[in-house]
Amino acid sequence: MKQYKMTEKNNNRAHFATRIGAVATAAGSAVGLGNIWRFPYETGTHGGGAFIFLYIMFIMLIGVPVLCAEFIMGRQARANEIDTFRKLAPGQKWYLAGYLGLAASIMILSFYSVVAGWTMEYFYMSVTGALSVNADRLHEMFGCFVSDFWRPLLWTLIFLGLNLLVIIRGVQKGIERISNILMPMMLILLIVFCINSLLLPNAAEGLSFMFKPDFSKTDSSTLLSAMGQAFFSLSIGLGCMMTYGSYFSPTTRLGRCAATTALLDTAIAILAGVIIFPAVFSYGISPQAGPTLVFETLPAIFINMKGGYLWASAFFALLFLASITSTISMSEITIAYLTEKKNMSRKKACCVVIGTACVLASLCSLSFGPLSSATVCGLTVFNLFDYVASNLLLPIGGLIIAIFAGWRLDRRIVEKQMSNDGLHSVKLLKPLRFCLRYIAPAGILLILLNSIGII
Ligand code: PHE
Repeated sequence: MKQYKMTEKNNNRAHFATRIGAVATAAGSAVGLGNIWRFPYETGTHGGGAFIFLYIMFIMLIGVPVLCAEFIMGRQARANEIDTFRKLAPGQKWYLAGYLGLAASIMILSFYSVVAGWTMEYFYMSVTGALSVNADRLHEMFGCFVSDFWRPLLWTLIFLGLNLLVIIRGVQKGIERISNILMPMMLILLIVFCINSLLLPNAAEGLSFMFKPDFSKTDSSTLLSAMGQAFFSLSIGLGCMMTYGSYFSPTTRLGRCAATTALLDTAIAILAGVIIFPAVFSYGISPQAGPTLVFETLPAIFINMKGGYLWASAFFALLFLASITSTISMSEITIAYLTEKKNMSRKKACCVVIGTACVLASLCSLSFGPLSSATVCGLTVFNLFDYVASNLLLPIGGLIIAIFAGWRLDRRIVEKQMSNDGLHSVKLLKPLRFCLRYIAPAGILLILLNSIGII
């Protein structure tokens, strides 16, 4: 496809060739297990409607502005995350935030790969027909699988190996291509499953759980988790979108790209909820099941559909692809840093990132079985990585990015990047700056302080 030809201007950095390429890759990073696996289970454990309401508020008031800020900073500096801060604020310590992002990205890559490994096992089971068991055996089956020593571990390592193959091939070829085919197919499949779920006997109960907010049960943990989910789902706060922004072409409309990404991402999360919750209430599964929720509910849905194993295979294949477009983006943050800052070859940098992730991901995988009693503050390695990265590191990173873009960065740079050098008028520039200067910093700070009990 001619429009995806590699263009190498600006310090020979590869960059995405078209606007569609930019949107597809940003959405490719954002859409993944966060929407299909994490969103439903977080919604389930935090009481449903109120969580979703808060999540959407966070996406609009904090998520989209921080996403724009990352794009602006990335495209302005055209460098890896750490150099981006260094170039935009020479001689100051802002770049330290970049290391926070690197740490978060490796932690997320580690636990995320475990869940991506589960999707591969489920794909395998769908294809071989092993998933067609009695619905009440699904819970037990999943439990046996994750607590096994080798099986989940092997899938995790295979997933990381495949990830390595794609990232070694570079930004353009690897990422843009997968993302462009993936998103439309994913949407179509999700809509079919939605219709199927809406026809289930207790669909109304599931929908009311999702869309009737009951704020009497919200507390500081609901707020923190909804904010964490917004950051996780949009892939913001760790410099991932900043790194992608540095590959954007000068003609990409940053505001539109951010809005389209957020819209697609939220739509897919809501669709996933509309698929899962009617089924949860119809098949008597507990919405509070946690990380295992989706892997117990989806097979129950598929088994009861005509041609179930075909649907299941298609779905898990797509989920696998959606996961890999996300893990590519997490890996890219550190790869860009190692190749540009430490002068490593791309191949070596990829091996270092994936090698580190293999060790940590193994610990995460084993934490469902042999290491389940190794806990810190009551959390297993898997849960600890998820909690610390998503609920703490990403919001802290987002806080720093918002303050940087709102207060430290020259407002002319913000204007220049948002308007592509004055080529377009940007209507929402003032609200964007207002969110970055006041709403995002105050909101994030209050919630973080509240969750550690200071206010
Ligand atoms: N946003 C991705 C998802 O929803 C996960 C992700 C988080 C990707 C952080 C990159 C960085 O699955």
